[in-house]
Order: sequence, then C-alpha cells, then structure tokens
Amino acid sequence: MRKKIVAANWKMHLSFAEAMALTDAFLHGLDDSGGLEVLIAPPFPYIHEVLNGIQRHPLISVAAQNCSEHNNGAYTGEVSAYMLASVGVEFVITGHSERRKYYGDIPEVISRKVDRILEHRMSPLFCCGETLEDRNSGKHFDVITGQIRNSLGHLSVENMKSVVIAYEPVWAIGTGINATTKQAGEMHRFIRNLLSEIFSDDVSSGTSILYGGSLKPDNATELFSCEDIDGGLVGGSSLRATEFLTICRAMETACSR
Ligand code: 13P
Repeated sequence: MRKKIVAANWKMHLSFAEAMALTDAFLHGLDDSGGLEVLIAPPFPYIHEVLNGIQRHPLISVAAQNCSEHNNGAYTGEVSAYMLASVGVEFVITGHSERRKYYGDIPEVISRKVDRILEHRMSPLFCCGETLEDRNSGKHFDVITGQIRNSLGHLSVENMKSVVIAYEPVWAIGTGINATTKQAGEMHRFIRNLLSEIFSDDVSSGTSILYGGSLKPDNATELFSCEDIDGGLVGGSSLRATEFLTICRAMETACSR
C-alpha cells in the first residue's frame, strides 16, 4: 500500500506569526486525517518552531524546501542535510523547477542533494516536470525520463524506497492551469512504468507519486480519483488553511474508496 501524502510548499511566503497561525489551523483541521500523511515545507527560519508545533500530531511531518549538495564546510548561506536531520526534518524537496530555473540546480547537483538527503536518513521529495515548450513539441516523456534517470538512476532499490516523486508540470505551477486528470494520469503511469524499468516492480508499485501545479479544492477530487496519483504538492492553496484542508479531505476520501 503506497503512502498517500499531501504536502504544503509554502515557498518564500509568510511572516513567522502567519506561519505559526497556519500551522495551528492545519493541526486543528487535521485531527482525523485517516491514513493520510501531511507534510509542511516552511521557509528555513520557521522549521524548528513548526516542528515543535506539530509534535503532538502523529500524521504531520516537516519537509525542508532545499538543502546543500555538500555535507558541511565554508558555504555561506547554505543549509546542509545534516543540519536538517539534526533538528528532526524528515523530508527534503529537491529538483523543484524553481530551483532548476533560478538557482542552477542541474541534474548532477540534484543527484548529489538526493545522496546527502538519503545519507542522513531523510526522504527526498523529488520533483520533475516539463515546460510548455517541451510538451508542445511532444518531448514531455523524454524530459521526465531524463530528469528521473539523471538524478535518481544511480540509487539502489533499497534507497528508492525512501524517495517520493512529485510530477509538477512547469506550465501548471502558479498559473491556475492544472494538468487535466488525463494528462496527469498518463504521466504518473509513465513514471511508474519507468520506475519498473530502472529499478523493480516493487519500487514501481511502492513509490508515492504526487501531483503538483495549480492544485486547488475544485480540481483535487478529480485529480485524486486517478489510480496512480498518490497525493499532491500544493503551493498557493497551501497558504490558505481552508483550501489546503479541503484538498487533504479530498485525498482522504480518495483513500477510503
Ligand atoms: P502552485 O500550487 O502554486 O501551482 O505551486 C505548485 C508547486 O510548485 C508546489 O511545489
């Protein structure tokens, strides 16, 4: 049985007070989250306090939004996987298209970040996704294949058991235009087949693959009805408690079917 996960990626939003109020609203709204795992990915300065806040909730974990490719050393401004693990972080997002686009996270860098995350016994939440140009030129499957092979292809079957994948088409992120259930379902199935080809059938059937990109209360139920979609990575809607909680409930309902 694959884990069903809904993750809130707060990106570079919210003051400390707003972040703590939102954490509190999630805690109160998620008392009965029936089998669903919820992740909060706050900005770095808030991680420790969010971790304290969620202590009494068994189903909420904290994800970092990024980590360094290095273990430690003279890298001003960077945060290592070692540090994140030492405060109790369990997941780290890597491969996000915003990091790929603005911060030079090329596949080799992402691959090293994945290694650091795993070395410190956390789970990489690995994002992949094609641009609109890739899709319009029919290259989307090749792009996703390249991203997965280049950054995860070196992992052992054992290590792959800790990896969560998020399919986030770049053209859907923050645009209000989500992938249709057909488009997302097709890509999730494709990724699952690819995992079987690169790793094993067990990895393929056991890896949670989340959808991200303009996921909202009004499209979550339909997207989550898809067999191969195991949850969501939510940006904008995760900044509003009612919207995020509605998306979580849509996943819970999908789990219980
Ligand atoms: P939006 O939900 O705002 O489109 O962002 C998705 C995303 O990038 C989550 O990582």
